[in-house]
Amino acid sequence: MRKSTLARCFQYEIFPRRATRFPLSWDDIFSRSAPLFVEVGFGNGAFLIHWAREHPEGNFVGIEISLESLERAQRHIFQEGLRNIRVIHEDARFALREFFADNSIRHLMMNFPDPWPKERHRERRALSSHFVHILGAVLERDGRFELVTDQEWYAQQALELFQGFPYLAVERVENNPLRPVQTKYEKKWRRTGRDIFRVIARKVQPTTVKRIIEGGTMPHILIPDRPITVQHIHSLENLQKEVPNHFFIVKESFASPDGKKFLLLIITRDYDYQQKFYITVVARQNGWIVKLESTTQPYRTPAVKMAVQEIGRRLLA
Ligand SMILES: C[S@@+](CC[C@H](N)C(=O)[O-])C[C@H]1O[C@@H](n2cnc3c(N)ncnc32)[C@H](O)[C@@H]1O
Repeated sequence: MRKSTLARCFQYEIFPRRATRFPLSWDDIFSRSAPLFVEVGFGNGAFLIHWAREHPEGNFVGIEISLESLERAQRHIFQEGLRNIRVIHEDARFALREFFADNSIRHLMMNFPDPWPKERHRERRALSSHFVHILGAVLERDGRFELVTDQEWYAQQALELFQGFPYLAVERVENNPLRPVQTKYEKKWRRTGRDIFRVIARKVQPTTVKRIIEGGTMPHILIPDRPITVQHIHSLENLQKEVPNHFFIVKESFASPDGKKFLLLIITRDYDYQQKFYITVVARQNGWIVKLESTTQPYRTPAVKMAVQEIGRRLLA
């Protein structure tokens, strides 16, 4: 594939880490105001593409955690010449909560989510009571959530979760529904004779959820002129701080040969969301600046801001 074709092929991915305002403005991203349709875990993109082709009046967003799937789907979107699809590489549980405003999604689709049947893997399951709260927040009033799965217990669990909260009313439960397009996994399970289950629920009562991305400009600290040495920077290793729901630790430090730039490898946790990134300490004309290293771009969460502030405070002391 020629280089320019390749670049155009990957034009559908959006990079929320570069955004300064959250939730994202989907009208700006699509350059038009239109109902939002979202598919979580779109795999090779067959359903998303069919859906977007059938509804040119909608803006379609696919969220996928596998980079390989993201690339494969974009090649197909490009071949189809569709302009109303964007894709995001992220954990859908995080993306739905952080990138979408309350009452903004008309229809949210989940085709054959990984069921994670073992109890010790429960944390990885997309469906949970927190997820039901997220749906209660981000779906439009009367917006739909649609789940298709080959695991009867998973469909049953969805029903029980919806019944446990007032936000979604179950509209339809079907066995082996006829669908206009079959996904890769649907074909696979049908070939082996498995039953397919579909649950459709409608949002009937709104709620909201707490978001952790604060957006805004890059946090930074200016340090007036003073010697900052490799030893200073090394002494920051293992520096950590925890306040309720937010935590950071400095894992490693690196120095440039001329001693004018240092890198600190940081791990943060905000609730259950973990990020790994670098903070840099760089010599300036009249001192130093402590800031996020631009190549790793974490989301600006309370723990990320706390890390920059605490490192700045230590170097100022
Ligand atoms: C069993 S496959 C189904 C793929 C496709 N929907 C289909 O029906 O052919 C599950 C898909 O969900 C994606 N996935 C799993 N957990 C995810 C998450 N937390 N956020 C986004 N995608 C996820 C996986 O990468 C995978 O592509």
